[in-house]
Amino acid sequence: MAETARAVALAPGADLTGFRAAVRALVAEDVTPERVAWSEGAACDLFGSAPPAESAPLRLPRAVADLVPMVVPHRDPERYALLYRLIWRVRAGERHLTEVPSDPLVHRLNLMRKAIGRDLHKMHAFLRFRRSEEAGVERFTAWFEPDHHILEAAAPFFVERFRALRWTILTPDASAHWDGATLRLGPPGRREDLPPGDGFEAGWRGYYESTFNPARTNLKAMRAEMPKKYWRNMPETLAIPALVRGAEAGTRAMIERSPSVPARRDPARAVAAMADQDPTSLEELNAIIRRSEPLVPGATQAVLGEGPVGATIAFVGEQPGDQEDRQGRPFVGPAGQLLSRAMAEAGIDRGASYLTNAVKHFKFEERGKRRIHQKPTAGEVSHYRWWLDRELEFVAPRLVVALGATAVLALTGKAVPITRARGPFQFERHHNRFVGFITVHPSYLLRLPDEAKAEAYGAFVGDLRRVAELERELAG
Ligand code: URA
Repeated sequence: MAETARAVALAPGADLTGFRAAVRALVAEDVTPERVAWSEGAACDLFGSAPPAESAPLRLPRAVADLVPMVVPHRDPERYALLYRLIWRVRAGERHLTEVPSDPLVHRLNLMRKAIGRDLHKMHAFLRFRRSEEAGVERFTAWFEPDHHILEAAAPFFVERFRALRWTILTPDASAHWDGATLRLGPPGRREDLPPGDGFEAGWRGYYESTFNPARTNLKAMRAEMPKKYWRNMPETLAIPALVRGAEAGTRAMIERSPSVPARRDPARAVAAMADQDPTSLEELNAIIRRSEPLVPGATQAVLGEGPVGATIAFVGEQPGDQEDRQGRPFVGPAGQLLSRAMAEAGIDRGASYLTNAVKHFKFEERGKRRIHQKPTAGEVSHYRWWLDRELEFVAPRLVVALGATAVLALTGKAVPITRARGPFQFERHHNRFVGFITVHPSYLLRLPDEAKAEAYGAFVGDLRRVAELERELAG
């Protein structure tokens, strides 16, 4: 008697959970790949009206288990059938099948895996958020058209990178929403739902222009690296036609001033570099920061961290102030002088410590001749956060002092009131692990009314004494 076919209908898109459940059930019932008709569309109705009892998890070789989530997002309608065939053969004794790249089935699945890897890379590198504000709440929205159903697989990257923000990613197949705590997947989006462009985009454009090297304009390579399809959603690419037109004149000008131009710039990679920059030393990192444009135009220069690599204590402030912006050094203005005095009273050697800021450019509002400091937004803090992470990785302090709420946000990704969080905390992120200590920002002390200053300053010095003690404990 001919064996009956089994119809498996999975949810549209990348239904990893449905596929895994279906495979477990099919294997439990010994259903050969030839008997299964896979389809996607309506909600999953695995086995007609009688769903199978919960089946035990399958024990698959690591290589197979890792391959499944990298193939399921592919748009090829045969992906589920091919994966089930692979699983069937592996279970039937070909345990090392994935190590045979010449096998037609393995070859095809490998091509799919690579396509998904490329698609993920493009999304991570080329997705651009637009900033909007509603009732005082900042939100970031992006539109992206991936080749495959990769939104769910790509989203954790954005959660990690933009944890402190509220964002939405719209794609033609689905949408992802992060509210600062929970990731939710939703229905397809529309390009028209993007908020209008804003100054945040101008920041990207400025960055791109500042890293564009006219001497290396190679449109073919540029298109291969960053296919044109993505251009219209990337604000910095608005600058490309004009930059390319000006490339010849730019090259001439560049030759004339060549000693000051960093040698290794590559226009094709300039945009991807924003997400992919991978400096291998503090010097390389500082070169990247130095030539970056401020997100909000105005600053004279990027103010880099100062102090020895290997310093045991690092201090993180908010952003450079007026004096720091002019002199190009952190903590040299009134707040910095107060910090130096408190450090000295607490027995901390400023010259042996590392001082830096969460945000590397001064943001201000002009009032007459005065430049009035403006607090950076969470989006701006987040923009500089990868650099701060790298910076601390290279300096590798034992202890990091967060001066004020912006530093806490940059270090932890959380907006925490200083009054609640003041004191030591454990910090762990990427390759960084250290003891942190939260205290107030010295400029807060400067703003206090005179009668409150002495006591608050005393408490600040008290905090720094605890920092010095902690450092001695860690050293011992
Ligand atoms: N405030 C900061 O946070 N950093 C400086 O460098 C100066 C003032």
